[in-house]
Amino acid sequence: MTGTQITLVKASFKKIELVEEEAAVLFYARLFELDPTLRRLFKEDMSEQRFKLMQMLEFAVQGLENLEELVPAVRALGARHVGYGVRQEHYETVGSALLWTFGHALGEEFTAEMKEAWTAVYNLLAKTMQDGASQVPEKASGGST
Ligand code: HEM
Repeated sequence: MTGTQITLVKASFKKIELVEEEAAVLFYARLFELDPTLRRLFKEDMSEQRFKLMQMLEFAVQGLENLEELVPAVRALGARHVGYGVRQEHYETVGSALLWTFGHALGEEFTAEMKEAWTAVYNLLAKTMQDGASQVPEKASGGST
């Protein structure tokens, strides 16, 4: 993760904030299209889900400058996600829905470098969350499958 990548992620987050409603609609539509079984993990109310997307992006952006310090918090976030019914393989689906959304919401402003920077950030967070999730005892996972 380079300084330039951090700058790019922050800049694109500002742009996404300007179109957050549209971005959230796109993101969840894409996510549930990629995997319709994920719909049941989220609450019925779509307006709340909008905040979940922004929370997720904010979390990523805030963490960039002190990733080392943030590792325990990200691991704990990953462990909590087990309780939400989230499994390891869902991270890839969410990552691709996220990048697809950026591409559609920002159009040409979402440059190849921006995409690369977000991929690096997302992968790092996802991997750390997955590590945290893998520490959760099986019986606490709550999933039926
Ligand atoms: C980098 C990856 C991710 C980040 C940073 C992230 C961030 C967050 C945050 C900040 C919350 C609020 C609750 C809390 O703090 O515990 C949350 C909730 C949630 N996330 Fe994630 N998340 C990520 C990946 C995922 C993935 C892969 C899924 C799978 C579908 C997912 C599904 C959910 C669900 C279902 C909730 C709770 C919704 C609710 O109860 O209303 N998240 N996430």
